[in-house]
Amino acid sequence: MTTSRPTTHRIAPSILSADFARLGAEVSDVIAAGADWIHFDVMDNHYVPNLTFGPMVCEALKPHAKTADGQPVPIDVHLMIQPIDALAAAFAKAGADYISFHPDASPHVHRSIQAIRAAGCKPGLVFNPAASLEVLEWTLDEIDLVLIMSVNPGFGGQSFIDSALRKIELVRKRIDASGRDIRLEVDGGIKADNIARVAAAGADTFVAGSAIFNAPDYRTVIDTMRANLAG
Ligand code: DX5
Ligand code: ZN
Repeated sequence: MTTSRPTTHRIAPSILSADFARLGAEVSDVIAAGADWIHFDVMDNHYVPNLTFGPMVCEALKPHAKTADGQPVPIDVHLMIQPIDALAAAFAKAGADYISFHPDASPHVHRSIQAIRAAGCKPGLVFNPAASLEVLEWTLDEIDLVLIMSVNPGFGGQSFIDSALRKIELVRKRIDASGRDIRLEVDGGIKADNIARVAAAGADTFVAGSAIFNAPDYRTVIDTMRANLAG
């Protein structure tokens, strides 16, 4: 059975909650279950108090990031690191499609965005729950994705912070006013039972880690998310 994929919504399972002992198979399995993107959380034990994986793991997973009929599935790299630029370039080489970073982790946000674009990737900016959106005033024309954190970055399995909804509404207005094709992604605490509320606020791309990888059947969760988005 194949699930129809809506043109607007994207579901991006975060492999932070996958079985690290069999990551390649986990990526293949979650794509077979209907994932649109693979969300790749990079943590450095400096910007956030946790440590995950780097460009070599991204490169190793790249061949798995495709559908059964060979269509590429974007790798959505979320950098929770400081500094940004050297590793962003390494992720571009390693096969990343989107590379997003937290503006407070770069002394030269505009330069970091340009460096990601020049390396052939789509740049994004990520906003923590208490972060101001002011930097978008000066960068929205340069980016392809805004990622709103609905938990504090560093760990999977946390509860959704409701103020993210108000922030998503604000960003949706700005994106629509810009007329540009910019993805509005949300990350943290997304489940089948709150995804419709988050979409109603204006998000179009949904990261989900524990909701998918801690479930016995990935397809059931992804199908339920899509049904709730459609309904
Ligand atoms: C947290 C990460 C998230 C994490 C989300 O810092 O950025 O991508 O995997 O996990 P859940 O969906 O379990 O909240
Ligand atoms: Zn993330």
